[in-house]
Amino acid sequence: PKVTYIEFNGEHRVVDVTTGRSVMQAAVENNVRGIIAECGGACSCATCHVYVDDAWSARLDAKSEDETAMLEAVCEPRPNSRLSCQIKVTEALDGLVVSMPEKQV
Ligand code: FES
Repeated sequence: PKVTYIEFNGEHRVVDVTTGRSVMQAAVENNVRGIIAECGGACSCATCHVYVDDAWSARLDAKSEDETAMLEAVCEPRPNSRLSCQIKVTEALDGLVVSMPEKQV
């Protein structure tokens, strides 16, 4: 499945992600800027914060309590904020678009 990452400067990166990888893992492996992922995917750093395109937001699995709690700590949270390490890429998410916040570069 293909995931489009929009960096804060507006640059688009399209990455072909292996099913089962997280949106965060694919970003790190492909040097997408703006996703830092300090904790390596343990849902405890919130430096993998992304905004999910509105067309996709409702199609993702619901947030866990841990994710909801971590999102309260990020800079500039929005209703479509998610932690990218908690989004597993599946065929159903082919075409997913996420953008990165300013304060994570
Ligand atoms: Fe740390 Fe997602 S990588 S919360």
